[in-house]
Amino acid sequence: MLGPILVGSPDESYSVFLGTQIADETRHTHLMLRLGAEVAGFDPEPRRMLAQAWNDSDTPHRELTLLEGELVADLLGTPMDYRRWLRAVVLFHLVTEGILALVGQRALVRTLRRLDVLPGIRTAYTAMCRDESRHIGFGTHALRVGMQEGCADDIYDVLERAIPIALRFDDRDGRRGEAYRAMCADLARKHLRTIGADPAFAEHLLGTGTTTAGSIR
Ligand SMILES: [Fe+2]
Repeated sequence: MLGPILVGSPDESYSVFLGTQIADETRHTHLMLRLGAEVAGFDPEPRRMLAQAWNDSDTPHRELTLLEGELVADLLGTPMDYRRWLRAVVLFHLVTEGILALVGQRALVRTLRRLDVLPGIRTAYTAMCRDESRHIGFGTHALRVGMQEGCADDIYDVLERAIPIALRFDDRDGRRGEAYRAMCADLARKHLRTIGADPAFAEHLLGTGTTTAGSIR
C-alpha cells in the first residue's frame, strides 16, 4: 500500500524518506510471512497465507483494510493530487502505524518480556517498533504541513472514518477493551496535537469513537 504514496509524494525530500520506509516495510513483511508460517501455522505461500489471514480477521480489521484500499486506489488514479496523498498518509502513517501498530507491538513486546519467552520474536518486534517511530515521525510532520497548507478538511474527513473503526479493534476481548481504547485514544490525541489539529475536533472525534465502540460491545 505504500508504493502509491511514494509515487505521489509532493516533495523530493519526502520521496527520499519514503524510499527508506519501503525498504523497512519489505523487511517487516518478510518477518510477518515467517511468523505466519513458522509460528501461527498458516500456509507458507504468501498469497494463500493472505487469504487465510483475511478469513481469520474480524469486521473492524476488514473495514479498515477496505478503507485503506479505497484511499490508495483513489491516489493511484490521480497520483499528483496532494489532497488524496494526504488522505492516504492519514490512514497509513497516523492511524495504522501511529495507533494500531504501536499499541499492538508494544503490548506484544511487554508480554514476551514478562513471560521471558520467544526472545527472537521480541528482538524482531523491538526493532520494528524503532522503525515505526521513524515512519510515524515522518507522517505527522507531513500532515502538520498539510494542515498549515489548508487541507484540514481532507485530514479530518479520513480521521472521522478511520478512528471509530480503530477503536473497535479489540472488541473480541471485552475485558481488555477499555484499556485498549484508552491507549488508542491517548496516542490519537498526541498525534492530533502534533499535527496542529483543532482541540475541539480532537474531542469531538474521540468522543464519537468511544461512543461507537461502547455501543457495539
Ligand atoms: Fe511502518
